[in-house]
Amino acid sequence: MSSLSVDAAITSRMSVRAFTQQTVERALIEQILQVASRAPSGTNCQPWKVYVLQGASRATLVEQVCATHDAIRANPALAAEYAEEYDYYPQKWVSPYIDRRRENGWGLYGLLGIGKADKDKMHLQHQRNYHFFDAPVGLMFTVDRVMGRGSLVDYGAFLQNIMVAARGHGLHTCPQAAWNGFSRIILPHIGAGPDEMLVCGMALGYADETAVVNTFHTPRVPVQDFTTWLG
Ligand SMILES: Cc1cc2nc3c(=O)[nH]c(=O)nc-3n(C[C@H](O)[C@H](O)[C@H](O)COP(=O)(O)O)c2cc1C
Repeated sequence: MSSLSVDAAITSRMSVRAFTQQTVERALIEQILQVASRAPSGTNCQPWKVYVLQGASRATLVEQVCATHDAIRANPALAAEYAEEYDYYPQKWVSPYIDRRRENGWGLYGLLGIGKADKDKMHLQHQRNYHFFDAPVGLMFTVDRVMGRGSLVDYGAFLQNIMVAARGHGLHTCPQAAWNGFSRIILPHIGAGPDEMLVCGMALGYADETAVVNTFHTPRVPVQDFTTWLG
């Protein structure tokens, strides 16, 4: 194994936000999940539970969540009924994170020609999440509620493994916390029990190489800015 190919799989991963209709064989999805399940987890708990949505199950969820997303826009008071079950983002944003978040958001919207005043366009672009960005495969991830916060650390390794393994097969992904507020629709739809919490969703498929949105490449802070060397 060369470090070049491992590095290439990691660095070629990006959040793709437009997919083609090309189907992904079940055997390939299984292979990716099997490889990803080699992720480490504290005491080998393997806290992940994966739901694969395709065809009618995917289409029905898309329809339901998009309708709810529209309803919340029409009546913002409804949002209180769709609270996220865990804080993925901080309650209070501070620098430098708020600055990076803004750079990311406006970078993406700017590329798509969406200005600050274009609330309709913003809503529609945000709603692309609830179409899985047209990817034929939607993944939903849950964790048993009894598990500790450490299981979310384990989950990060598992999710990254899926995304990197997908690259090895020419596939792309977009991890999606956008679904998290809709767990009261999603959990019954996928057949998850009340003892499960939605961690996030993910779009999986082949990137639409012609889509402008997929030319969005995100920067990273240099190593020296986040590393402290102790001798
Ligand atoms: C757990 C998780 C949830 C995310 N949720 C969303 C989402 O709901 N919608 C979206 O468009 N991007 C989402 N992203 C993608 C991030 O915006 C993206 O990873 C970041 O901007 C870096 O860009 P890159 O993935 O292209 O390297 C999510 C990423 C992670 C890790």
